[in-house]
Amino acid sequence: MDEQDRIVAMLGTRQDPHAQARAARSQPLLLHSLTLFREIFEVVFEHRPIATVVEIGVETGEVSGLYAELGAEDVYCVEPIPSDELRAHIAENPALHLVERHSPVALAELPIADLYVLDGDHNYATVRAELDWILEHAPGALVAFHDVLWPCSRRDLYYQPSLLRSDQRHSCTEDGPTVWHDCVTSSGFVGRGAFTSAAHAGGEENGVLTAIEDAIAYDDNRRFTIVPAVFGLGLLLRADTANDTRLLGALRPYTHSRLLAAMENNRIALYTRVLAMQAEMAAHAQEADQLVRGMAERRDEIDELRRDNEALRKRHAREIGELRRRNEVLVRELEDQRRFTPALRNLAGVSGDLLRRAGGPWK
Ligand SMILES: C[S@@+](CC[C@H](N)C(=O)[O-])C[C@H]1O[C@@H](n2cnc3c(N)ncnc32)[C@H](O)[C@@H]1O
Repeated sequence: MDEQDRIVAMLGTRQDPHAQARAARSQPLLLHSLTLFREIFEVVFEHRPIATVVEIGVETGEVSGLYAELGAEDVYCVEPIPSDELRAHIAENPALHLVERHSPVALAELPIADLYVLDGDHNYATVRAELDWILEHAPGALVAFHDVLWPCSRRDLYYQPSLLRSDQRHSCTEDGPTVWHDCVTSSGFVGRGAFTSAAHAGGEENGVLTAIEDAIAYDDNRRFTIVPAVFGLGLLLRADTANDTRLLGALRPYTHSRLLAAMENNRIALYTRVLAMQAEMAAHAQEADQLVRGMAERRDEIDELRRDNEALRKRHAREIGELRRRNEVLVRELEDQRRFTPALRNLAGVSGDLLRRAGGPWK
């Protein structure tokens, strides 16, 4: 997109007032890729001769092509679990070379680079080992780090904790951090099987930023600066070269932007609020499901009671019919009795008279 198209996409026109909204909804809800730092890398490439790039943690490979576009001749893309998308992307561009290995071990197997981009496993042990190796073997290289701010600045994140010794890992959890309190939570920034987070933030040897601080703690020849956007881009430059002094100056509008820092804080606050609301909605949906299941069970019980009731009603109707019939028989018998009793009495009186008159012994 050229500058004119970019401005139109931002401003829209009177005939196309929705251009900016369209551009906004075409982006993922959570921006996270280094591709967003294109203008920063443009400044870097303008101030530094960069022929070889080692990129640790590549994911889709979109950002790898960016380094080649800006002038890199060889980009070594270190990704232990390359997706088909990444393989296809790399196959299309002769400047890109896939390295199916883990960092930091992969570093020693690759040519020395002018630019290292560290965005692989986001924990103290890995980043510290990567940076220690680079400072020793490629002291003139520029190093870029992603995720030097929340959530990984002071809290380890583990893609593959099994590669670390137990003393290099903090106890970790599937839960994730949120901006809204200081604990981890299932409704926080979670890895959903891709990564876990250290259960506690802070302390020694915890987090990406802490690793960088420790690695350069006694190195006066370095300057470390941060662009406070999209989880934080760290840049480690030399303090003793004119190129890097100029580069540091050129980056200043980004690295010292209070506006960027405020927007990043707002972004992570809004995003973790969305995560919390999604979790609340899921919980409500579960409750609603339970209610519906409960109502269906009650309905089944009511239907069964209705059936029992109907069976009882029929049985009672039969019994009442039977009782009525018996009653009628009794009534008839009673009436017959009533009708015959006076006649019998008369008959008894007549026969008594006859016997008395006959003078028999029974008078
Ligand atoms: C945050 S993603 C990288 C995103 C990519 N740099 C971008 O900006 O679009 C992290 C990647 O690092 C990979 N990774 C994890 N551990 C690694 C390691 N030890 N060495 C190299 N890559 C690693 C993961 O597989 C994942 O694809």
